Amino acid sequence: MTQSSRSSLIASLDDTVIGRRREVELVVAALDADRHVLLEGPPGTGKSTLLRAVAEGLGIGFVFVEGNAELTPARLVGHFDPARVLTDGYDPDVFVDGPLVTAMRDGSLLYVEEINRIPEETLNVLITVMSEGELNVPRYGRVAASSGFRLVAAMNPFDAVGTARISGAVYDRVCRVSVGYQNAEVEQRIAGRGMKNLPDGWLDKVVELVRRTRTHSDLRVGSSVRGAIDMTAVTVSLASVRSLTVLDAGVGLDAALVALSGRVRVREGSVRTAEDIITELWNEVFAPAPQGESGKASAPVGATH
Ligand SMILES: Nc1ncnc2c1ncn2[C@@H]1O[C@H](COP(=O)(O)OP(=O)(O)OP(=O)(O)O)[C@@H](O)[C@H]1O
Ligand SMILES: [Mg+2]
Repeated sequence: MTQSSRSSLIASLDDTVIGRRREVELVVAALDADRHVLLEGPPGTGKSTLLRAVAEGLGIGFVFVEGNAELTPARLVGHFDPARVLTDGYDPDVFVDGPLVTAMRDGSLLYVEEINRIPEETLNVLITVMSEGELNVPRYGRVAASSGFRLVAAMNPFDAVGTARISGAVYDRVCRVSVGYQNAEVEQRIAGRGMKNLPDGWLDKVVELVRRTRTHSDLRVGSSVRGAIDMTAVTVSLASVRSLTVLDAGVGLDAALVALSGRVRVREGSVRTAEDIITELWNEVFAPAPQGESGKASAPVGATH
């Protein structure tokens, strides 16, 4: 890829992948250098959005695989159709290509989501392919990776449930791009995308509330930007359902509860509920307590005239 087409591709992704110029550059560079890539970061940080946009922008085909405990080597590689084996035997025509064989043949990206959830034996198949550039399938033969084949994978570092520890052998064969939470300004742009006529400063508060869930001492897991996206959309629709504005307190709090209470995880040992904590945070951000006597006393002289 020429330098100018690479730069224009990277610039063209700014609208799709908001605020991730550096990460886009790193992924494009690693793929351009023919390397395998692992994106690692918390949920909702835009890993899938980025990988899809880059693959589409580069015009390379990609084969999508959802990583989970049921992704056996046979599901990843492919299998002989058992009914046809009975009549035709182990003929290559009877082999049903899995996503790995398809991607290797076509020279596409094999895009594995949640790679840390796949079973060890399936990871071992990927390790072999990354090292050798080919795969030996019993009774079928050798499958060589066409030029352009690369593995791109995404995973969450903090996701302990159902997660096998990704082996050092995988880490040693990929380039790793770490993706952190977006800053507040970028989260506002993501949550407000496509929304019209939002009151000034309102999105700042939505995002501030969502960000506070990530540091609240009673919460083990806070909400990702998906919570901000949903809270924005639900507030707008609820305001319309109730014929009120998004600034109405009842609308705002109800929308926050709907959008966020299921996304956060209360810390073990805390007696509070998610609803209770979201309500507290909503009050802090959206309804600052009215100034009391001390507030009045400290008001600048002349302010009441
Ligand atoms: N940089 C971004 N630009 C545009 N939209 C984004 C960005 N980051 C996140 N989003 C939006 O946030 C949501 C979650 O993003 P995405 O699915 O890419 O995250 P992820 O890192 O793959 O999450 P997970 O680890 O849960 O798979 C999507 O709706 C996406 O549109
Ligand atoms: Mg994802």
